[in-house]
Amino acid sequence: PAPRPLAGRHVIVTSGPTHEPIDPVRYIANRSSGRQGHAIAGALAAAGARVTLVSGPVTIPTPPGVDLRAVESARDMLEAVTAALPADAAVMAAAVADFRVDAATQKIKKTGAPPVLNLTENPDILATVAKGAERPRLVVGFAAETQNVIEYARDKLKRKGCDWIVANDVSRDVFGSGDNTVHLVTPDSVEDWPRLSKAEVGERLVARIAAALGPAPR
Ligand code: C5P
Repeated sequence: PAPRPLAGRHVIVTSGPTHEPIDPVRYIANRSSGRQGHAIAGALAAAGARVTLVSGPVTIPTPPGVDLRAVESARDMLEAVTAALPADAAVMAAAVADFRVDAATQKIKKTGAPPVLNLTENPDILATVAKGAERPRLVVGFAAETQNVIEYARDKLKRKGCDWIVANDVSRDVFGSGDNTVHLVTPDSVEDWPRLSKAEVGERLVARIAAALGPAPR
């Protein structure tokens, strides 16, 4: 039988974008296929973990063996993540919209001047979980950057209070792609991983998570 190093562990994964409504038919969002987050969730389940996958709207299949909580907005995502606690680890791979819109209740019409969108900052789900009372033992964030990838990742570790950052350079083709080139940034090390499939990034990350948590007490 396959080794199940995460048997007895609960891991929360966020994935996909969030959609922030502008009106009943429009939204703003970040680019995200959900492929990396979903691959991690699938690899965690394959390693024996109980996985709560909190995902924004995606068109890809749910990996086998994970418990999907489908959400739309950042606020919905925060609520679903908080409701899923406690957990042994959290992996926050979602591309959460930083801002939401004061949404109109009816479809905005093209009459006269273009509308102004009033933006409000969304809660930071990763920071909320990492600094919260029910903090999982291991909290992993992601950082999609187009420049100064390592420097920004180190800054993000401190600011958000997480243990590791998986940093990827999105100036190369990552979005919707099957591959990813990442760096695993911890407070005292940086590992440069080769270009791998998103499934392989998931498997490697899961191996590291299993090593960090150790076997569950039985
Ligand atoms: O600050 P930035 O958006 O680059 O941080 C990326 C990391 O923070 C990712 O792990 C992402 O899932 C998480 N994040 C979050 N809630 C937000 C913004 C980002 O959980 N509102």
